[in-house]
Amino acid sequence: MKENIRKLEDKIAQAKLGGGQKRIETQHSKGKLTARERIHFLLDEGSFEELGALVTHRTKDFGMGKQIFYGDGVVTGYGTIAGRKVCVFAQDFTVFGGSLSETHAEKICKVMDMAMKIGVPIIGLNDSGGARIQEGVRSLGGYADIFHRNVMASGVVPQISAIMGPCAGGAVYSPAMTDFTLMVENSSYMFVTGPNVVKTVTNEAVSSEELGGAMTHATKSGVTHFTAENDLECIAQIKELIGFLPQNCEEVPKPLPYSLNTEIREKLETIVPDNSNQPYDMRHIINEIIDDSPFFEVHKHYAENIVVGFARLAGKSIGIVANQPMILAGVLDVNSSKKAARFTRFCDCFNIPLLVLVDVPGFLPGTDQEWNGIITNGAKLLYALSEATVPKVTVITRKAYGGAYDVMNSKHIGADLNYAWPGAEIAVMGAKGASEIIFRKEIISAEDPEAKLKEKEEEYAHKFANPYSAAERGFIDEVILPKDTRRKLIKAFALLENKVAHLPKKKHGNIPL
Ligand code: HXC
Repeated sequence: MKENIRKLEDKIAQAKLGGGQKRIETQHSKGKLTARERIHFLLDEGSFEELGALVTHRTKDFGMGKQIFYGDGVVTGYGTIAGRKVCVFAQDFTVFGGSLSETHAEKICKVMDMAMKIGVPIIGLNDSGGARIQEGVRSLGGYADIFHRNVMASGVVPQISAIMGPCAGGAVYSPAMTDFTLMVENSSYMFVTGPNVVKTVTNEAVSSEELGGAMTHATKSGVTHFTAENDLECIAQIKELIGFLPQNCEEVPKPLPYSLNTEIREKLETIVPDNSNQPYDMRHIINEIIDDSPFFEVHKHYAENIVVGFARLAGKSIGIVANQPMILAGVLDVNSSKKAARFTRFCDCFNIPLLVLVDVPGFLPGTDQEWNGIITNGAKLLYALSEATVPKVTVITRKAYGGAYDVMNSKHIGADLNYAWPGAEIAVMGAKGASEIIFRKEIISAEDPEAKLKEKEEEYAHKFANPYSAAERGFIDEVILPKDTRRKLIKAFALLENKVAHLPKKKHGNIPL
């Protein structure tokens, strides 16, 4: 028996060493943690249970029969984060550059299947040179097995991908199909074709960082939702994110204890400037509405004219979608519509109520927007908010103009409760534009056309640039004082807690992709 135990201990020690001490040191020298260290920091102390530590690849080609490493380049298993079960895999760059073999893929699939069976989030820590070149199509098949599971798990359990090293070629499509992607600055990159191929095909000279580094994907492509300065910050972000989510689509996020106070926030009366063309930071409004725990912003650096993220309201997790008047006056454009639609759908999948804060002058005009499909992309947000069955509450803080009024969670597309502040302007278009069209003849034939335009603008603004026409028709449930917003919202979400809404029977809808 003793001999058997010694043999097992020996194998486990070998597995823990991955590709060997030298390669671990190389990993550290690049400022990266190893797969096991990452799991250690991610999960609660002592909670990790490894599965498949003794798996080895089955390849004999290219001398691979002589290069066997226990675990085959990926550490898989389960554990807890703040006491909640999660399944996890971490690619081990010290073994064949974390490349994905048939068995490596099988290990990942096994924990994904487990996560689906028991209804817990799946977290992947990616650090890989891609398909194990020596295995050819077996590796490609392994990727496809993972992709298929990503799709099956989508909307069933939260899926989170951290990119903590290379992630290239088709390998990018697994993170792309998960719910959230995080990237570590300067040590991770994602691209379908790398700088060499780009140079050959398009003659563009670009570095890996420029082509597919964390900030590129955070600002330009929107592929990553979060960036972190290093591995530890990235891991901390995953833990924070998980805190807002339920375990699966059958559950609601766990509320934190909260005892009700007066909930009046005087500061909310001072944030929106008197001049309706002056910008302000919607985050200031968000911070006054939510609990003391910080707003967890998603896609912070991408399409900044809309703000999305998670927060706690009276201890409960909510998702916030808010126009940002500080950037492009808060217009809706292609990217902001996509960003908000994706976030909305995530919240709806996982029973996270939605708060929509509106200050939107309309859609961004121009050939760039039209040619890039603002029609189809704007429709994504309209579709996503219409389709969502979670509690949906709207507050119009200032402008709600044109089609954007409809899109931004109006009553007409199924919002449950719609509030407006007294300074809200709800109309087809701004007073100037509207007056120029409907009073055109009167203005040009006036003695002083400029004065006439001004007069007509004021007349229009008086009639329409307020929340009362909408409130008279019931499109707005209540015009509320800004300082009372938090209290109203706490009560609104409490009212809607047990909301039941069913979509018509269908296979699935056809969101304009
Ligand atoms: C097998 C690999 C490997 C791979 C790296 N290694 N990538 N082994 N298959 N894909 C091995 C290296 O041979 C080396 O082994 C060790 O991992 C570390 O790699 P280095 O090159 O020394 O590391 P570094 O300098 O940091 O460079 C990392 C790298 C580079 C940029 C990722 O290794 C690289 O370009 N690898 C190939 C990437 C690639 O083309 N992959 C296929 C993409 S196509 P030793 O023993 O020397 O330490 C693809 C298709 C997926 O993935 C399709 C899915 C549908």
